Amino acid sequence: MIKIKWFGHAAFSVNIDGKIFYVDPWIKNPLNPSKEIPDEAPDYIIVTHDHGDHIGETIDIMKKHNKSKLIAIYEIASNIAKEIKAQERVIGANIGGPIDLGDGYRVILTVAHHSSEMGNATGVVFGKEGKYVYHAGDTGLTYDMKLIGELYKPVVALIPIGGHFTMGPMEAACATQMINPKYVIPMHYKTFPIITGSPEEFKKHLDELKVKVELIILKPGEEVKLEV
Ligand code: NI
Ligand code: MN
Repeated sequence: MIKIKWFGHAAFSVNIDGKIFYVDPWIKNPLNPSKEIPDEAPDYIIVTHDHGDHIGETIDIMKKHNKSKLIAIYEIASNIAKEIKAQERVIGANIGGPIDLGDGYRVILTVAHHSSEMGNATGVVFGKEGKYVYHAGDTGLTYDMKLIGELYKPVVALIPIGGHFTMGPMEAACATQMINPKYVIPMHYKTFPIITGSPEEFKKHLDELKVKVELIILKPGEEVKLEV
């Protein structure tokens, strides 16, 4: 079972058979109805890049939940380890290198065409065989997404649609076609006036391209349970 909660923007809690991953936990984003650090302790926090709208409340969550570990590209992971003074709580990684978390769970950072203060911007595939989730991070459209789809066969894709800094609705629909997930959840839209892409436009482009996918549009703070 995969349970996904959207906090708004690019921030998610994803529970895959009991293992809890937070991705890009900007909990205090303007869309999230609750600005409180969640009581639910994540096993892992994954940060795709160090822009403020993605690193968000990572440190606060790690302070509140002292068993949660961070996974990020090496430079960002090292920097956070220094900040919280706990090297053992971070896993520095790099693009394309599978990280084995035990019990069949793996995390793979992926290419993202975007910028970052430190290291490189990434996306991420996480979960286990048959239950992988792909969070694209902030990125433009790239053929790498076809490879990600073929290699890991993610069941769920979390895709930015807002435009300006990332893919817009049309590019996001092309991305979904290449990734070929069972479910797609749009993100990274309407948080600021400048990221105007809408789920309605995204749906229109998915329909035009005849993409076979179940589109799930979440409200900020909403949770969905997916049978996979
Ligand atoms: Ni960014
Ligand atoms: Mn962003």
